[in-house]
Amino acid sequence: MAQQQTGVVAIYPGSFDPITNGHLDVIERGARLFDRLIVSVLRNEAKAPLFTIDERVEMLRETVAPYPNVEVDSFNGLLADYAMRREAGAILRGIRAISDYENELQMALMNRRLQPGLETVFLLAGETFSFISSRLVKEVISLGGNISGLVPPLVEQRLRARIQLQ
Ligand code: PNS
Repeated sequence: MAQQQTGVVAIYPGSFDPITNGHLDVIERGARLFDRLIVSVLRNEAKAPLFTIDERVEMLRETVAPYPNVEVDSFNGLLADYAMRREAGAILRGIRAISDYENELQMALMNRRLQPGLETVFLLAGETFSFISSRLVKEVISLGGNISGLVPPLVEQRLRARIQLQ
């Protein structure tokens, strides 16, 4: 396991289109568990995103500004390779429900096969956040529903602006 002299570095990877309060809960708790947490946006995704990579990175940076040991980055290609480049010893993921588990298990085992020693650490979503997903938040706001409390305020403003423009 690659480990920096400065302690354990973890990567929290995802699409973050956009960051929700569920992601933020995982970030807050992950920042307490690890010496350094790198929140990293996947660049090479197939799905059509609502926000560009740069917009997502910017929203993440503004949201995690209060946490001194949290950094925001983006990555291409295999997560296991990126984790090695960043000298990370762990991947952090949140699990909301049993439906998340199967896919997460597959990814964790594949990443372990690609990079033995790279541990995936799962945090159970807090009860208040277990139903929140970026996809549902976008659907609800685009249909005129109330999303306050589901995403950080700055993200809600950007979502409103983006949905109105469409
Ligand atoms: O927020 P998401 O969409 O659930 O995040 C999925 C993510 C980014 C963690 C996953 O798609 C990923 O790690 N992609 C990078 C490509 C890769 O390494 N694929 C093999 C993983 S087993």
